[in-house]
Amino acid sequence: MYSDTAHAGTPTSTAPSAPTWDPQQYLRHAGHRTRPFLDLLARIPELPTSPARIADLGCGPGNVTELLTTRWSEAVITGFDLSPEMLQRATEQYAGPTAGGGSLDFRHGDIAGWLPEEPYDLIVSNAALQWVPSHPGSFGAWINGLRPGGTFAFQIPGNFTAPSHALLAQLCDAPRWRSRLAGHGARYIHLLEPAEYLARFTELGCTADVWETTYHQLLHGPDPVLDWVKGTALRPVLTALGDDREAVDAFLTEYRDLLRAAYPSGPRGTVFPFRRIFAVARKEA
Ligand SMILES: C[S@@+](CC[C@H](N)C(=O)[O-])C[C@H]1O[C@@H](n2cnc3c(N)ncnc32)[C@H](O)[C@@H]1O
Repeated sequence: MYSDTAHAGTPTSTAPSAPTWDPQQYLRHAGHRTRPFLDLLARIPELPTSPARIADLGCGPGNVTELLTTRWSEAVITGFDLSPEMLQRATEQYAGPTAGGGSLDFRHGDIAGWLPEEPYDLIVSNAALQWVPSHPGSFGAWINGLRPGGTFAFQIPGNFTAPSHALLAQLCDAPRWRSRLAGHGARYIHLLEPAEYLARFTELGCTADVWETTYHQLLHGPDPVLDWVKGTALRPVLTALGDDREAVDAFLTEYRDLLRAAYPSGPRGTVFPFRRIFAVARKEA
């Protein structure tokens, strides 16, 4: 739940089970992963002040954070993330002054306890809140932290009952893996449905725009769904198995075979349907 003890703008401690991220693997599907963010960006209304102050929660490798500068070129933008690997990549690639006179910086911070340390025009989060099941409990604080007329906008995957995730959860709970991986494939069950997000934001007095889209992604190459989840849903499993190469290989082989059956490759590639949930909540001006 939302933490009363968190300090404004400062991180709380990293959970011991926090997965290790691999920016390079994650960015292998950057095209498909970026598209929902562009669809979200297109629905964000004008911001109340210029230069705008923007926070990106769970900024990852920073490529999506940087896209914010294409619309708000003078903005002062801070990306927050827990992963040292992701933050290093973001900082190396994108930190510093922007062409439009604004700036980008990246800080270590835990979304779960994050409080706006100053008034924001926009708080945005792309494909990150699913890692923080308590996120609806923070909505009130985040909306409070917006300037009048400011916006909170996010996108999260809504595909946790899809074969990619259901099979992962089943495999983690199978007798062979249970002792090391039980629960690692079912970390996302606390997400709300679009109607529930809409209700939360209207209850908070916001003008809300909530929708869902299923992208029928056509992936290429051998075992592309496995390659995709290696960048995201498999991170907790890979982190838990650590340096045990034999176990990693055995798990990946079993999971790969299940994915091949669930997502057969065709002459033009492998279709990987992906449902996503979007919300844009504007605070009263
Ligand atoms: C799937 S990536 C999305 C990255 C980026 N927003 C994008 O759209 O490409 C999820 C990110 O959320 C971060 N994350 C997960 N839990 C977090 C938490 N509690 N606090 C801060 N960041 C978190 C991860 O480190 C990771 O970089």
